[in-house]
Amino acid sequence: MSTFQADSQQLILALSKGRIFEDTLPLLEAAGITVTENPETSRKLILPTNDPDVRVLIVRATDVPTYVQHGAADFGVAGKDVLLEHGGEGLYQPIDLHIAECRMSVAVRNGFDYDTAVRQGARLRVATKFVETARAHFAKKGVHVDLIKLYGSMELAPLVGLSDAIVDVVSTGGTLRANDLKEVEAIMDISSRLIVNQAALKMKRERLQPIIEAFERASKK
Ligand code: ATP
Ligand code: PRP
Repeated sequence: MSTFQADSQQLILALSKGRIFEDTLPLLEAAGITVTENPETSRKLILPTNDPDVRVLIVRATDVPTYVQHGAADFGVAGKDVLLEHGGEGLYQPIDLHIAECRMSVAVRNGFDYDTAVRQGARLRVATKFVETARAHFAKKGVHVDLIKLYGSMELAPLVGLSDAIVDVVSTGGTLRANDLKEVEAIMDISSRLIVNQAALKMKRERLQPIIEAFERASKK
């Protein structure tokens, strides 16, 4: 097995498995890049492409900005939700790819009187993976909250009394409905962005710029 070594000729792209990988494939194709192994069936974390100088790292969605910030990947694709929690340090964010579209929302149990709870000024217990976004949202509203950090299955928290509300991404609303929850506030629209390491953009601009432009053209279709 060859060792992993980034050099000035090579481009390393960080992607997460699932919807972001699937939705980025057509954009890569538009730039002439085909990923030649499937991350759902391969156990490899570094995937080859048809271009020997371009490889794809498969990482957790929340880790994509970290790999790109530190230059372990030259560029990546990450949701706005993930980027807001990360803070965006060291990242150039040239384009909204309009993929993995959803919204960040506040949800509570059916039957919970959210408006009254907020009006009465009692502290609201909010469970979420998105603590920075939740903190900013409730601070702007002047609502006092106790934030409970979770890493997944947020919908469970109000059902078992861990929290009064959750902040999570919603698309069809199916997960909320299946768990007897209702959306009470939409905080912001979410989509995924192309992110580029700032140093790589300077050092590898000749290689990166045509890919950025191809992504931009393809994502507008
Ligand atoms: P991690 O693996 O780090 O826990 P994750 O499970 O949230 O992350 P994905 O489910 O692949 O990772 O989501 C990737 C991105 O897709 C999210 O950051 C968000 O921007 C967006 N997303 C999440 N859920 C949906 C959805 N139901 N519909 C559309 N886009 C979504
Ligand atoms: C996301 C999110 C919600 C769900 C919302 O989960 O955490 O649970 O999508 O989508 P909906 O409104 O269409 O039901 P995802 O499907 O990514 O599962 P995961 O968090 O386990 O990856």
